[in-house]
Amino acid sequence: MQEERKIPTHIAFIMDGNGRWAKRRLMPRKFGHKMGVEALKRVIDACEKAGVKEVSFYALSTENWSRPKDEIDALLDMVKKFADDELQKYVEKNYRVRFMGELHRLPEVTRTALEKIARASAGNTGIVVNIGLNYGGRDEIVRAVNKLIEEKKPVTVESLNLALDTAGMNDPDVIVRSAGEKRLSNFMLWQSAYSEFVYIDDFWPDFDAATVERIIAEYSKRQRRFGALQ
Ligand code: FPP
Repeated sequence: MQEERKIPTHIAFIMDGNGRWAKRRLMPRKFGHKMGVEALKRVIDACEKAGVKEVSFYALSTENWSRPKDEIDALLDMVKKFADDELQKYVEKNYRVRFMGELHRLPEVTRTALEKIARASAGNTGIVVNIGLNYGGRDEIVRAVNKLIEEKKPVTVESLNLALDTAGMNDPDVIVRSAGEKRLSNFMLWQSAYSEFVYIDDFWPDFDAATVERIIAEYSKRQRRFGALQ
């Protein structure tokens, strides 16, 4: 019997293995990140075509700053280029682009470009593309709680949901991690309470439309109970 194909509303990706992908080709790590950006574009388009409504990506964590300056600089350059080229196109394609994490640690010119894109696409009704930059799940929760305290609001599940960087988004139905690693690494800690986890052995730069289909097929097999007996 043919399995029913269930399309997740929200898929969140932990993009891992860029460095190893490059090393296998005797190339510098930053080349792996460059090809990682190409994979990111392929995955966004494939998800959009498949009917996924929201996608999230862990692009730069609060911990990544301890990497060599050369690698961080290359990553920041890629973010700026991605903002100027791709994100700008997404705005025109009716995608909504948003960010999670504290953008203040990014270079001023990049931060301004990202904020402009988020503002310009805020009313768009297509797929939501949510990118984590200087993002950490614990940091996000602490910021959200402090925001509620400052606003003198009671801390409840509902109020916290609305104070997080992901306010208004659905929780991820699936969290995907590439490169065979099986860790959450401080990604969407609050939002992942009932997410399904899918681990793919391929390195991130090898992700494409076929990988997205594999993820959807795997998700379709899962029975979600949200803690209840069914
Ligand atoms: C993990 O691979 C990947 C990252 C730390 C960065 C992910 C970033 C991108 C795909 C590109 C930049 C993003 C945008 C939005 C333009 P790793 O370096 O930890 O790989 P390894 O575990 O094999 O060393």
